[in-house]
Amino acid sequence: MLLSFDRIIITGASSGFGEAYARRLADGCKEMVLIARRVDRLEALKDELEAQHRGLSVLPICCDLSDAAARELLLGRLSCLPPMCTLLINNAGMGDYGAFADSDPARNHLMMEVNMTALTHLTRALLPPMLAKGGAVMNVASLAADVFIPDFAIYAASKSYVASFSEALHIELKEQGVGVLAVCPGPVHTEFGQVARREGFTGNMTPGKDAFDSSVTTVVEGSLRALAAGKSRYYPSLKIRVLALLLRNLPLGLLRFVLAFRPRRVQSDSV
Ligand SMILES: NC(=O)c1ccc[n+]([C@@H]2O[C@H](COP(=O)([O-])OP(=O)(O)OC[C@H]3O[C@@H](n4cnc5c(N)ncnc54)[C@H](OP(=O)(O)O)[C@@H]3O)[C@@H](O)[C@H]2O)c1
Repeated sequence: MLLSFDRIIITGASSGFGEAYARRLADGCKEMVLIARRVDRLEALKDELEAQHRGLSVLPICCDLSDAAARELLLGRLSCLPPMCTLLINNAGMGDYGAFADSDPARNHLMMEVNMTALTHLTRALLPPMLAKGGAVMNVASLAADVFIPDFAIYAASKSYVASFSEALHIELKEQGVGVLAVCPGPVHTEFGQVARREGFTGNMTPGKDAFDSSVTTVVEGSLRALAAGKSRYYPSLKIRVLALLLRNLPLGLLRFVLAFRPRRVQSDSV
């Protein structure tokens, strides 16, 4: 363990990165709060982790983070816990591949609520005890934070928000000893792609992406090292760091030109 926290709060702990962070951080922490909608998975993870790690107490909480009232209930429960040095991992998120014109407005709303509003809401609410007792925030953004992406428009914009918000907080909170890190992975095999896939779509959503794939373990281990080193942003490989640098520095006109000729990912019904 590179940094030590008494309590670790992880959103989206029922699969992918969230579940992997829980397994990785269980050793040495006193209390873990696991949040997601699929509470059966959280309960199974609790049983497994408590059996393996003596002295660890795991609290699974079922919460739909897109629902403001459910978030208030969640925060009510968290406010009853005694203040401790806490790591908050805002990891829950979702994508939606496809043309904006064909998108489902309700799903768009849900995505924005989970990816941006819930992350902001939880960070604000949980910050005061962290300022008092110490702590850190890890916000899972994406390489998509560095570029606008046609057919993935809201997702990429939401991750730009996460990275920008995290960089600003990193500076604001540095002197108070609360680290803030934006985690920016490229493509990683989790349930993310399946969730982002719209009904009826069977093609390849991200042609050529395999060249930039990282493993869940690489992202989890690397991001924890980056947090311990006091960094504000983490990319999982040199290739991804260079790509992010390029995307941020290409002239806008050139970027628009390249992205206009992207391989078409989603066939509209009408085409
Ligand atoms: N995999 C990638 O290629 C990739 C790349 C860059 C960034 N990311 C980011 O990494 C983060 C984790 O994604 P992942 O790859 O681990 O995908 P994942 O396996 O699909 O995990 C997503 C997690 O978010 C939770 N979640 C989604 N909507 C929720 C809601 N309304 N309320 C509560 N929890 C919700 C899910 O839990 P329930 O469904 O049980 O609620 C699940 O635990 C996301 O923020 C994603 O944007 C992923």
